[in-house]
Amino acid sequence: MAGRSVVVGVGHYLPKRVVPNSEFEKTLDTTDEWIRTRSGIERRHFAADDETTSDLAAKAAEAALADAGLTADDIDAIVLATSTADLTFPSAATMVQARLGMNRGFAFDVQAVCAGFVYALSNANALVLSGQARRVLVIGAETFSRIMDWTDRSTCVLFGDGAGALVLEGQEGQGTSDDRGILATDLNSDGRYKDLLYVDGGVSTQSTGHLRMQGNQVFRHAVEKLAKTAEVALERAGLTTDDVDWIVPHQANIRIIQGTARKMGLPMDNVVVTVQDHGNTSAASIPLALSVGKQSGQIKQGDLIVTEAIGGGLAWGAVALRW
Ligand SMILES: CC(C)(COP(=O)(O)OP(=O)(O)OC[C@H]1O[C@@H](n2cnc3c(N)ncnc32)[C@H](O)[C@@H]1OP(=O)(O)O)[C@@H](O)C(=O)NCCC(=O)NCCS
Repeated sequence: MAGRSVVVGVGHYLPKRVVPNSEFEKTLDTTDEWIRTRSGIERRHFAADDETTSDLAAKAAEAALADAGLTADDIDAIVLATSTADLTFPSAATMVQARLGMNRGFAFDVQAVCAGFVYALSNANALVLSGQARRVLVIGAETFSRIMDWTDRSTCVLFGDGAGALVLEGQEGQGTSDDRGILATDLNSDGRYKDLLYVDGGVSTQSTGHLRMQGNQVFRHAVEKLAKTAEVALERAGLTTDDVDWIVPHQANIRIIQGTARKMGLPMDNVVVTVQDHGNTSAASIPLALSVGKQSGQIKQGDLIVTEAIGGGLAWGAVALRW
């Protein structure tokens, strides 16, 4: 017998405002066609001016709790992945805790940019396996629209806002790869690549700043590192790519998603794709894709899923889990 962190609920929330590519044609030297063919993105959601990351996160968390048939009283911890928290402190996670009416347990944010949800899932799994929490809400939530430079066509057309959440619950398994739940994780970072993707501001430099990216350089690292980390996670679980039902990748760019699947030897039929509707929602993109994938009937109980993500840091990683 072995402990496993099993997904017992999933949900998401997207802000009401949908922005099609054509809207950028009015203010930038760009076209719907360029954005579609280079990134796969067709539209994205942007939060309203008075809507914050913790607002999106709380709504996604409520949806995940409803899906699990649980209430906030059943939850021991909240781990929230974000790089765009409402305030410098407290954490967005504790703000969600209050919003849910959760009066016990603990909550904290994880900051690993686009790899944030993979990092949060891995940490939440460790909390469950070490007995520090039985049920954990794991959330990815972002308002990247707040850190865009609206004059930079090479970045501002690529990102969107949103939130997704999972409820993880500790259950007994057999200790084999047939178990439901998280089977293995793989986390990596390499701070030497800071200049490829960063925000040129922050508390200690006394500004909010804007996202800066050398897109083609990030692209070069992405496919290689994502295929490798996914394969490492699968290997740690005693599995290979042949066992995978779904790759649920970070949704940054359709060409990165296709390149990674190709490198792993899997067809696009085995990939959950939402980038066309959401753009890159950073730490929110994987839980959003898991929620949409379940709602659409693609992901079913017992399916073997590998998630993979890379982002600023560079930070990257993967989680192999059975749904
Ligand atoms: C950003 C990205 C779509 C750009 O595509 P690309 O094929 O690499 O294009 P390049 O950056 O080489 O730029 C090619 C040209 O398109 C132009 N361009 C950039 N954005 C444009 C836009 N929105 N509309 C029209 N032209 C644009 C560039 O200015 C450049 O023009 P130039 O040749 O005259 O200098 C691509 O690099 C990418 O997706 N990278 C990964 C980024 C990512 O997903 N990061 C997040 C990881 S978490």
